[in-house]
Amino acid sequence: MANHHEHANDSMTELLDLDAEVLRSHLSDVTGWVGELTAGRPPRRILDLGSGTGTGSFALLERFPGAEAVALDVSEQMLHRVRDEARERGLADQISTVQADLDTDPETAWPRIGAVDLVWASASLHHLADPHRVLTEVHAALRPGGLLVAVEMDGFPRFLPGEHSALEERCHALLDRRRAAALPHFGDDWAPRLAKAGFTVEAERVFDIHLTSPLPAPAGRYAELSLGRMRHGLAEQLDAGDLAALDSLLEGVARRHDLTVRTTRTVWAARR
Ligand SMILES: C[S@@+](CC[C@H](N)C(=O)[O-])C[C@H]1O[C@@H](n2cnc3c(N)ncnc32)[C@H](O)[C@@H]1O
Repeated sequence: MANHHEHANDSMTELLDLDAEVLRSHLSDVTGWVGELTAGRPPRRILDLGSGTGTGSFALLERFPGAEAVALDVSEQMLHRVRDEARERGLADQISTVQADLDTDPETAWPRIGAVDLVWASASLHHLADPHRVLTEVHAALRPGGLLVAVEMDGFPRFLPGEHSALEERCHALLDRRRAAALPHFGDDWAPRLAKAGFTVEAERVFDIHLTSPLPAPAGRYAELSLGRMRHGLAEQLDAGDLAALDSLLEGVARRHDLTVRTTRTVWAARR
């Protein structure tokens, strides 16, 4: 069981890294926009809330080379990856990690990290049991004039070409249903929540991403891993025909030339 768990987490860290690599140009658009929103006053201290492997921290430090970042996550395994990558990139002095579970007792959940100029929360707000409480803490941690950038997604990307897209949609429909039960805040409209926590919502941007051939090199592996996790997770729910079709697709999916990457990301910029 422990092995199964470790394996699942390993594939999650790889999935987060692949997402950032394949969507590099989108991520760069978003950090470029953050650059515009902070023009004249670039952030010096950044908090990456629910950092995962730290892809947001690294992208932001590329954009703001003078800054330092604090990567916060509940998972020590994720933070281990952040530290390794920081060393590899020669950024060990600019990134620190904080292990904290934002869902535990309000008295102890918010760690002492000091004031920050920018909070980046990518695909993390929907994990929280009590987003309002955490957003209130984020507001308090920001310096006046500081910015919270929240990124959320419609789900994992779609990859398959036309003749297989109905199968992919059936899989996503099952996943969506399961996620709605496990993560009730997934797909929320964050603007009213941000306002309720004291923020001024400056902008909300929807990025409709549709990458076509030639895709970034790691896209094949991203599709393989993503569809493989889906197949594994839905083994009990898919009917035999769909399961067999997915298995045979998975065989050569990483080498296909007709994959695309389709996903929607929404970004909110909110000011203290
Ligand atoms: C989908 S990942 C996103 C990671 C990263 N921000 C990215 O965009 O690639 C969500 C992250 O939130 C973290 N997380 C979930 N619940 C948390 C909690 N209660 N406290 C702190 N971190 C949490 C998870 O460990 C995971 O690394």
